[in-house]
Amino acid sequence: MHQFTEDALTEAVLATINADNPRVQEVTTSLVRHLHAFIREVEPTEEEWFTAIDFLTRTGHMCDDKRQEFILLSDTMGVTMLVDAINHRMAEGATETTVTGPFHAAAMEMENGAMIARGPEAQGEHLAVVRGRVIDVNGNPLTGVKLDVWQSDDDGFYDLQDEDQPEMNLRGIFTTNDRGEYWFRTVKPSSYPIPTDGPVGELLLATGRHPMRPAHIHFMLTHPGHKRLITHVFVEGDEYLDSDAVFGVKDSLVVPFVLNEDMEKAAELEFPGPFYEAEFDFVLEAA
Ligand code: BEZ
Ligand code: FE
Repeated sequence: MHQFTEDALTEAVLATINADNPRVQEVTTSLVRHLHAFIREVEPTEEEWFTAIDFLTRTGHMCDDKRQEFILLSDTMGVTMLVDAINHRMAEGATETTVTGPFHAAAMEMENGAMIARGPEAQGEHLAVVRGRVIDVNGNPLTGVKLDVWQSDDDGFYDLQDEDQPEMNLRGIFTTNDRGEYWFRTVKPSSYPIPTDGPVGELLLATGRHPMRPAHIHFMLTHPGHKRLITHVFVEGDEYLDSDAVFGVKDSLVVPFVLNEDMEKAAELEFPGPFYEAEFDFVLEAA
């Protein structure tokens, strides 16, 4: 005799889970418990449930090698940052992590000081130099750290999103010198919307949320003997710092981009006019 009543169903499903792998047992058991609790709380109509299935189906159909709508869903629900926080409980003083995002791609190794902007923005009004040091938690400079850098242009688009941008635009890999220093030339980034032409965009709209991310530059730092660091440097003063669509902002990652109108300095940097300067030191944790 089977009695899969509303009340008995959860225990009935849980009783069937019998995984060899204890972690699979733990995760699937918890998933069933929370999923059933969610359904009990929300009490969806059948139509609503099919809307949810259709949403997830369309989210899957939107995914390919260039677009990952499920990651975007995780990002906008704050799940990516929660997983990040759980997995990166950093040593005191180490630079904080944030989301990777979908726009990392292969880049070329470059000399310190190289310009990563290769499109028309490289002649524009938002030129910038970004510099700093990479040190360990004891303050010792780290030589030979690879800094993989990527950012959007001053209109808020990554090269992967915009066929008009040159290949590998606004990307580069830099290596710290024997004093732990790095520096590169670029454009000051601007805030931009995450992609909204899919189901995640519909969900943001339906829930009264905007899709904007505050202006930032992405960094991935690698060095033998130290933990890989994936983070951003955010532009101080950006209007979206307090409402990032993917909850990625941490106060310690926000830096001023200071306008420098010294034309001698501009000439040294081969900039035609005033430029922005930003400085950020990264602190890596031992592996
Ligand atoms: C990004 O910063 O590139 C990004 C992060 C999460 C979702 C979409 C874009
Ligand atoms: Fe980004």
